[in-house]
Amino acid sequence: MTADTRPRVFVCRIIPDDGLTPIGAQTRAEIWEDDGPPPRDELLRRVAGADGVLTMVTDRVDDELLDRAGPQLRVVSNYAVGFDNIDVAACTRRGVAVGNTAGVLTETTADAAFALLMAVARRLPEAYDYVRQGKWLNWTPMLLLSPDIHHATLGIIGFGRIGREVAKRARGFDMNILYHNTHPASPEEEARLGARRASLDEVLSQSDFITVHVNLTPETHHMMNKASFAKMKPTAMLVNASRGPVVDPDDLYDALKNGVIAAAGLDVTEPEPLPVDHKLLTLPNCLIVPHIASGSVATRGKMASIAAQNLLAGLKHEPLPSWVNPEVWRQR
Ligand code: DGY
Repeated sequence: MTADTRPRVFVCRIIPDDGLTPIGAQTRAEIWEDDGPPPRDELLRRVAGADGVLTMVTDRVDDELLDRAGPQLRVVSNYAVGFDNIDVAACTRRGVAVGNTAGVLTETTADAAFALLMAVARRLPEAYDYVRQGKWLNWTPMLLLSPDIHHATLGIIGFGRIGREVAKRARGFDMNILYHNTHPASPEEEARLGARRASLDEVLSQSDFITVHVNLTPETHHMMNKASFAKMKPTAMLVNASRGPVVDPDDLYDALKNGVIAAAGLDVTEPEPLPVDHKLLTLPNCLIVPHIASGSVATRGKMASIAAQNLLAGLKHEPLPSWVNPEVWRQR
């Protein structure tokens, strides 16, 4: 019997077949089949000797993991567009290529952010509870009144791919769109999206709804905090579908509880998962869903496919289709 010389990879969770099938055909893949992420000690044990690893946002890739994997490791392919779980500099130092799933989840994530905005604006969770609790006995003129979405001002913090797709949706609702971003969009792009660049303070103070679409970095960690909430309108609502730690959860709780802002819709939280006894879950004006913004069937399939392509390209020392640290290529 001939030895199997295909590269060895560890896949940290079951992903759609669009990814698992090519990986299974071209590598010796070990797949973590539990619902939850591999505990840290298991992860470290399983990556030892691997040529490639396919990680989730829940798997921390740092010096410790890279040491345990060993010098043969060629590629870390993250099944996400965000890669704050990966110490990219540490990977680059070792010549390990890092891939993400940029591009394929933009619209689906924007849909979800807009769904959160609409749900909190129109108080859908409260309304559903009202019905389920048997309180719906009459049509009532003053019941569960809410602000309008159409013609309101939307502030988008972070105007990359996803932020711009949210603007596109907001345009259909005739919203007045402000955005805050380090780099301005081109005049053509601003005209196309009907969006105007503004300072962070202006976005905070003028918006009826604020949606956050930044990467998690030391600069954006807890950027939405007591001081930012104090600048917002008391009627304003916050949406976060970026990363949980961009919002300070204690400050958000205080702001929602004390009427500093009106409501929040969160796809992501700090910590994640949010414990069921967390104080944010006691608030009727805070809608929380479990980090599902990219979770459409089609998009998760595309994410699996591109994550597999990244993994397989990295194993062959080829350019990754969605490459986080292309400087690794230049080092070769
Ligand atoms: C991402 O892609 O970064 C999401 O948070 C998971 O889809």
